[in-house]
Amino acid sequence: MTDLNFGKNFVWGAATAAYQIEGGAYEGGRSPSIWDTFSHSPRNIKDFNNGDVACDHFHRVDEDVALMKELGLKAYRFSVAWPRIMPDGFHENQEGIQFYNYLIDKLLENGIVPYMTMYHWDLPQCLQDMGGWENPAISDWFENYAASLVKNFGDRVKNMITLNEPSIFLNMGYKEGVYAPGFHYPNEKLIQMVHNILLAHGKAVRQVRLANTNIKVGITLANTPDVPFENTLEDIRQAAESQSYTGDDGQYFLYEMRIWGDPLFYGKYPQGYLNRFGQNLTINDGDMELISQPLDFLGLNSYSSVYVSKRNGLRFIQRRQGEAINAIKWTTVPDTLYYVTKYFYDAYHCPIYITENGYCGNDVISLDGKVHDPQRIDFYEKYLTGLKKAVDEGVDVRGYFTWSLMDNFEWDSGYDPRFGLVYIDYINNCNRVPKDSYYWYKDLIQKQR
Ligand code: BGC
Repeated sequence: MTDLNFGKNFVWGAATAAYQIEGGAYEGGRSPSIWDTFSHSPRNIKDFNNGDVACDHFHRVDEDVALMKELGLKAYRFSVAWPRIMPDGFHENQEGIQFYNYLIDKLLENGIVPYMTMYHWDLPQCLQDMGGWENPAISDWFENYAASLVKNFGDRVKNMITLNEPSIFLNMGYKEGVYAPGFHYPNEKLIQMVHNILLAHGKAVRQVRLANTNIKVGITLANTPDVPFENTLEDIRQAAESQSYTGDDGQYFLYEMRIWGDPLFYGKYPQGYLNRFGQNLTINDGDMELISQPLDFLGLNSYSSVYVSKRNGLRFIQRRQGEAINAIKWTTVPDTLYYVTKYFYDAYHCPIYITENGYCGNDVISLDGKVHDPQRIDFYEKYLTGLKKAVDEGVDVRGYFTWSLMDNFEWDSGYDPRFGLVYIDYINNCNRVPKDSYYWYKDLIQKQR
């Protein structure tokens, strides 16, 4: 087995997101987000679940930070709920700020470095009522929110991520309608929304830079890379070519690397995309400069891959026969992190953090009171082996965050899929039970040299 030693300076972390863990939905002056509205409407979420209580993290910060400390985490990635900080979308709520102040101070007291995500999908409902990501003014609303985060937390939080996975929240929420707010928009409308989202990111970066507090700032993109089905030159080449496709077929274009990466790092949309959709896009003077301000790092979330085969004509294959799958049928492809980091680094040369990666299972508490999750450990070992290969080949990867620290509300799938290193016993008062993988990860972190 590969020696999973990434050196002393590598950042080992775990990630969560506000709506998925906090609960306390009606406390601390928080207003409803689009996810509250969506999850409370019938038939949107598996078994009518919602995030009202979630993991009850809102009331258990001490306990959760103690678990992180015991795990030996160097860093913790969490998101801030916009409707807690600004219930009306625009004005600060001191109770919300206090909640995150408490969390941040606890982390720092325990030697854990906070990585703050500004937006992990819980848009205040009141802003959605004003058009949400469709309204071009949202980039100003977001800038105002980002400025507040920088002002209130920037003295202690030195790593900020503007947005989590714009491709996913846009595609799933506004095209396929399976995530909040549940809309089915045509491509013509989505094109301008991509731009609004990127501009919001750019304006948030501007606020970070203006504050001049040596905060490092980046964005987190999701990607399911195209990987060769066979280890032949032909498949390797084809996979790389498919990866840099500009998505001008209008189908899955929102998932493509270059739709987001090119404007962010080169200040221009790919030509194929412009040819197809340019007439749906208004770009104002200065927009592309704002969008492409230099970033300190790029966050990547990656869980699985798509195989590309040329053997009998070009084919995209979801799963090798017999390959492991998780509880929501995602395939375990060990080279996922190898390819995804290489592709993005080759294309954009920006230091990378894996801001999410993990395995969901149908974990249970056994009669011995423990949670045995060998599949998750196996998944992590395989994926980190792939990541190590990329690092050894010179890809600049600075850190790795497991998804997730604890089981949580998995969006439309509710509480069924369990992604955590810590099991949440939803039946018994949300008790926390560290899984075998928690101890495995602890050991891995300790062994770094
Ligand atoms: C998201 C998480 C989600 C995870 C597993 C990512 O798309 O950022 O919120 O729980 O994947 O589906």
